[in-house]
Amino acid sequence: MSEPVQTPQTFQSRIFSGIQPSGGMTLGNYLGALKRFAELQNRGIETVYCVVDLHAITVWQDPEKLRNQTREIAAAFIASGIDPTRSILFNQSQVSAHAELGWIFNCVARIGWMYRMTQFKDKAGKHAENSSLGLLAYPSLMAADILAYKATHVPVGEDQKQHLELTRDIAAKFNHDYGVNFFPITEPLIEGAATRVMSLRDGSKKMSKSDPSDQSRINLTDDADTIAAKIRKAKTDPEPLPETVEGLKDRPEARNLVNIYAALADTTSESVVAEFAGAQFGSFKPKLAELAVEKLSPITTEMARLMADPAEIDRILNRGADQADAIAQPILAQVKDIVGMIRRREV
Ligand code: TYM
Repeated sequence: MSEPVQTPQTFQSRIFSGIQPSGGMTLGNYLGALKRFAELQNRGIETVYCVVDLHAITVWQDPEKLRNQTREIAAAFIASGIDPTRSILFNQSQVSAHAELGWIFNCVARIGWMYRMTQFKDKAGKHAENSSLGLLAYPSLMAADILAYKATHVPVGEDQKQHLELTRDIAAKFNHDYGVNFFPITEPLIEGAATRVMSLRDGSKKMSKSDPSDQSRINLTDDADTIAAKIRKAKTDPEPLPETVEGLKDRPEARNLVNIYAALADTTSESVVAEFAGAQFGSFKPKLAELAVEKLSPITTEMARLMADPAEIDRILNRGADQADAIAQPILAQVKDIVGMIRRREV
């Protein structure tokens, strides 16, 4: 996990990633994203992290809840080890470059590309014509989030892979259409044992904040007893743990619990299987519950502490937005020059 980050082309390494404030945070968000964000920050690369509130409103959000959830996600970032003095942490709508570049990318990207996005199909369901135009254009704004910073690497969970391929397509088409080598072709960083944490009730479904069953997920706000109870009740099969990871092949629920254990313990699924080979779930689950509580409880406690002072969270987001703006505005100004727009004079 500590191999050096390779920089594509000649661009300076910069990491960008974002999380939507459209509901509470799950263990999936933590293992697939937040935990990795902190690791990357600690490797000394420039890291820019964003609570993407413009993305959240692609489906209607209650305004007061949106404000609270934005603060809660910011608290989750900090509680997971993102240090706002070492990473830039802000909410998207404070930095206007996202929306402005998003519009330019709407004019570069093709509608057909958007219709092919599996997440659009899933979210729009049978009512695509009735979904917001923003939901369709979502990946174009996501490309703008990343490229407003010329980010070279984007850590995400497996479910964002297709969106990141589209970001590469948009960057390449912009560079081609305007005959420049301006935007980097961003590399996704989808690594570790838990790039796709599955539902605790159904190993074929992603663990998600929008699943109607609360038993399907562990929330970052769950207390120790709730976490332990959810793991105890997690769906499994009657077989003991196998000798090798190949033995998990057609056992999605078993594989999921092994992957979660591995990610929480900072190890590989192979070594978890080696340690627990032949064990029944009756003995594995309490160990997993203990590990989950040990790792998540300090985060839950710290989130609650931070949430008690919303004004301080807002100050952190304001400072982060100033820093983000200082990077994004000059890049946006160059984009406007490339595209042929007369810019407002410097004041
Ligand atoms: P979002 O808010 O749905 O999820 C935030 C991050 O959590 C990861 N994740 C998971 N990882 C593993 N297992 C799971 N079950 C799981 N569920 C969620 C996601 O992959 C993601 O990394 N479109 C993005 C937000 C976004 C963004 C960006 C990301 C907007 N602009 C620019 C990167 C760069 C989203 O909806 O993530």
